[in-house]
Amino acid sequence: RAALTVLGIESSCDDTAAAVIRHAPPAPAQILSSVVWGQTELHAGFGGVVPEIAARAHAEKLDHAVEAALTQAGVTFTDLDAIAVTAGPGLIGGVLSGVMLARGISAATGLPLLGVNHLAGHALTPRLTDTIAFPYLMLLVSGGHCQFLLVSGADDFTRLGGTIDDAPGEAFDKVAKLLALPQPGGPSVEAAARSGDPKRFTLPRPLMDRPGCDMSFSGLKTAVLRTRDALVAAHGGLRESDRADLCASFQAAVADVLSGKARRALALYMAEHPAQPVFAVAGGVAANATLRGALDHVAQQAGARFLAPPLALCTDNAAMIAWAGLEQIRAGTPAPQDFVARPRWPL
Ligand code: KG4
Ligand code: ZN
Repeated sequence: RAALTVLGIESSCDDTAAAVIRHAPPAPAQILSSVVWGQTELHAGFGGVVPEIAARAHAEKLDHAVEAALTQAGVTFTDLDAIAVTAGPGLIGGVLSGVMLARGISAATGLPLLGVNHLAGHALTPRLTDTIAFPYLMLLVSGGHCQFLLVSGADDFTRLGGTIDDAPGEAFDKVAKLLALPQPGGPSVEAAARSGDPKRFTLPRPLMDRPGCDMSFSGLKTAVLRTRDALVAAHGGLRESDRADLCASFQAAVADVLSGKARRALALYMAEHPAQPVFAVAGGVAANATLRGALDHVAQQAGARFLAPPLALCTDNAAMIAWAGLEQIRAGTPAPQDFVARPRWPL
């Protein structure tokens, strides 16, 4: 149980990130630095992340991000025990930038290199911020993913259900685009919803009455499009109050679907693991206050502890990648050094 210091590198979507973590048990892990350079302005006007632009920006910035993370942490390569890099899933150009840089550093320094699954990074974040034991139930909800996971170990994840089409973050981003709000859509839809009436428009709650923990969000997005078109036709444009009401109604529908299915997942989980009543969320969409509130309520009703990481650790970052690598080392199951970068990589 020696102290370990790990450098993390993340470049699988539109954030160029590097971080240094130190863990000296029994003390909780310390985030010595966490550098996250977003690319929002580079993709503005394209209505989404452009893979080629993202890859080029990562290639240009990643080594500077690593340098900044080491400087901010007050360490050099000689203080490190390992390097952990996101090896997938994600936009392959960006993932490759990170893996190539990490390989170069590993070759030059002799430090062991760990290829980390981005989703494992999100799923293990609750153990970085709180001292909780395995197992726990996790809702991983981001721009590209939405699934309930039974997290039983650093490399032991069981999927209990998830979206059969879009991820909620993707739906937030598309709704923002439909309503001419800035990207990323999550924060801007949430901001617009604050002054809106969540009961004004009745939007669908797909798969709610079906058994199981699967979800669907693409029909919701289509319903928002239809409602928008009807409003534009009626008023010659979208009024500020219509936009706010539509955002609030959309957000309420997402909250209903996620909390309805969370209630089921939690019941399944609690029946198997009554001694470990913990429900955690992670991923960018978990930054949404309304959704957090709804999920917290579900946990309370079920008698479970609700864990939501701080906002900066919900969205993409490299601290979670460093931590997932560190967890693998502790568990004695580090991924092989000869891993490859993968666009798809289910947990
Ligand atoms: O985890 P993340 O940073 O990247 C991955 O998808 O892996 O999640 C990004 C997603 C985006 O779709 C963004 O719109 C959404 O998370 N998001 C939010 C909020 N903040 C970010 N969605 C809803 N409410 C928010 N406050
Ligand atoms: Zn992510």
